[in-house]
Amino acid sequence: MFGFMSASLYEMQPGQPAVPPSPRGSCYPEPTQEARRVMRLPERVTICEVGTRDGFQIEPDFIATDDKIDVVNRLSEAGVPRIEVTSFVHPKAVPQLRDAEMVMAGIRRRRGTRYAALVPNDKGASRAVDAGVDALHTVLSASESHNLANVNMPIAESIEKLRAVAQIARRAGVHLQCGISTSFGCPFEGEVPLARLSSIVARLVEMGARGIGLADTTGMANPRQVSMVLEALMPRFPGIEWTLHTHDTRAMAIPNILAAMELGVTTFDASIGGLGGCPFAPGASGNVCTEDLVHCLHAMGVATGIDLDRLLDTSRRVEQIVGRALPGQIIKAGPSTRRYPVPDTVAARLSA
Ligand code: COA
Ligand code: ZN
Repeated sequence: MFGFMSASLYEMQPGQPAVPPSPRGSCYPEPTQEARRVMRLPERVTICEVGTRDGFQIEPDFIATDDKIDVVNRLSEAGVPRIEVTSFVHPKAVPQLRDAEMVMAGIRRRRGTRYAALVPNDKGASRAVDAGVDALHTVLSASESHNLANVNMPIAESIEKLRAVAQIARRAGVHLQCGISTSFGCPFEGEVPLARLSSIVARLVEMGARGIGLADTTGMANPRQVSMVLEALMPRFPGIEWTLHTHDTRAMAIPNILAAMELGVTTFDASIGGLGGCPFAPGASGNVCTEDLVHCLHAMGVATGIDLDRLLDTSRRVEQIVGRALPGQIIKAGPSTRRYPVPDTVAARLSA
């Protein structure tokens, strides 16, 4: 039915423009009490942009350092509150990000943006802290085979290495968020038992992680599974900030994010244009697209603090840099507030 959403879920007064501006800066109106009742969502979520790390890491042609810096600056100017700028990993493992120090040194630091980097071990953590990151995002997998493929060591050894990372974070006074790849399924092993995931989380929390990132590395998670995993883990680890890291490989990223939001998760990784993929996970493809997610959140009245138009400009710039169209939808369709001229024949009938 036409107009159903705007009539019942959003407060529209007669004589108002079709889309009254929201006090939160979004072009969508505030949700009504009724809208809040039918779907319980947080008022605001925090997006961590990972396109310059997860996205750029699999680009085959080297992206110039200045272009990487330009994208990070545009993202912060669009109001993105967290950016995973790059990785401090072995340059042979991920040659694209071998300029991590130079990128960190070249960016303009915006107050209010937290700049993070991915690190697999103490060497990476020391490099990242020396380069001035605000947060360390660590990586290990919930499945042995993916951990071996990704960081060349068994899970137990990764955990020992991350203990040293936690000490470096503590001494440097930077935030520590520990990500767990293949949390919802492994492309080599299939199902990842919840008990194993939970025991990995326990060890990371015990060593000092303040945030845990659950990563769906190859888009295997579904919304009901996300709910079940979060419902089991969240009460066990009070005070932990949970981040959901999604890949849209099977078109389930936004549904998975909605499932997590309904359980109170408010931090999500996303990638400009839908860039992304793990070089060490067959079949991996892009993360949830940042501008598509921001559009969806704003349309529902959930604030992000991000300027969607500037984000779309950044996405166009990234398309120029990588030399191809990216999977994002809003860049093609425009926001749902877009209106087209009524065809002449229809206009004539309307005015008859
Ligand atoms: N940055 C730069 N160099 C590093 C490093 C880091 N973070 N960690 C280790 N090295 C160097 C060591 O100094 C050593 O150098 P040397 O040969 O000159 O003495 C060499 O790498 C080998 O060290 P080792 O600890 O045996 O590492 P490895 O070869 O087993 O590789 C990782 C382990 C984790 C460094 C590597 O697998 C890696 O960087 N993986 C990246 C994973 C990734 O980014 N995946 C995508 C994102 S999920
Ligand atoms: Zn990823």
